[in-house]
Amino acid sequence: MNSLGHSPELIRRALLEQSGRLLTPSPALYNLPALRLASRLCELSGFDQVFFGSTGAEANEGAVKLARKYGKTRLNGAYEVITTMKSFHGRTLAMVAATGKPAYQRDFVPLPAGFVNVPYNDMSAIVQATTDKTCAVMLEPIQGEGGVNIPDRQYLADLRAWCTERKLLLIADEIQTGVGRTGTLWGYQQFGIEPDVMTVAKGLAGGVAIGAFLCKEEFSVLEPGDHGSTFGGNPLACAAGTAVMRYIVENDVPGHVSRVGAHLMDRLQSLKASHPDITDVRGRGLLAAIEFREEKAPQVLSRCLERGLLINSVSPNILRLMPALTITEAEIDEAVGILDSAL
Ligand SMILES: Cc1ncc(COP(=O)(O)O)c(C=O)c1O
Repeated sequence: MNSLGHSPELIRRALLEQSGRLLTPSPALYNLPALRLASRLCELSGFDQVFFGSTGAEANEGAVKLARKYGKTRLNGAYEVITTMKSFHGRTLAMVAATGKPAYQRDFVPLPAGFVNVPYNDMSAIVQATTDKTCAVMLEPIQGEGGVNIPDRQYLADLRAWCTERKLLLIADEIQTGVGRTGTLWGYQQFGIEPDVMTVAKGLAGGVAIGAFLCKEEFSVLEPGDHGSTFGGNPLACAAGTAVMRYIVENDVPGHVSRVGAHLMDRLQSLKASHPDITDVRGRGLLAAIEFREEKAPQVLSRCLERGLLINSVSPNILRLMPALTITEAEIDEAVGILDSAL
């Protein structure tokens, strides 16, 4: 979320300038900062249309509404969205249903209908789950919360071909993998595919609340009045988003992420070599995970927090590292040193 670090000057400046002009106009009107960010995102992604909200869950909700209307108007009323187990799509009721994790769902049933959760990285599961009710497949190009699970390149290529053949929308949840995180601007570029719809949030405005879904013109079925959000596309968030995107492009942040990400992976491999209780280290760019033989991630995490290293335990045996995209090799060495002493 703090993609360029904590409170970077370029975001403070963008917020200060914008706050002197306009905070949040009526969402019934366009505003220039939103148009500027929308056109920049389209130029940088190949999508044609953008809808802004304020969170990742809201972005995914919008994408699913688009898929439902697409199914209703173009696929004889199809409404089901196939999603994957161990995914994470947000905490609203529909996104809890989309998120294939029974632990997140159990206490909140009944959940909204229309989601089918299948195993990740398993194309035959998607083929089997596809029926004449299916309108879309939604997944993360790399599962973040699920433990930084990187699918086979062929899986996403086959999925792309399947969605095209069956006229299903392919929705990429890029909320964690987007905006340079994996070493390319968008995570799907790591796999040489193009989705039909993409959702982004988290790092897009460098720590200011924002979410968005983007789609190609040919799938643009939503009309004025179908969807809305009071704070969606507010000038403050969009001014911050434009400043972030400008910095990312002008400074080739994805290239930096690739380089320092390779260094991080080298250092994590060395850590694994000296700690036999680590069974795997994996990642792409600056999204990385350390997996343990036993459920010791929360214990290691609290030792890291005591030593000033902010990381996350996404399951009892997996730690996830997702630093600012501006991190240096020296800071990575310091972080891995803290991990070493915590272990
Ligand atoms: C892949 C993915 N999708 C959706 C979300 C939900 O975003 P938010 O917490 O902004 O609603 C997250 C948050 O971690 C995420 O990682």
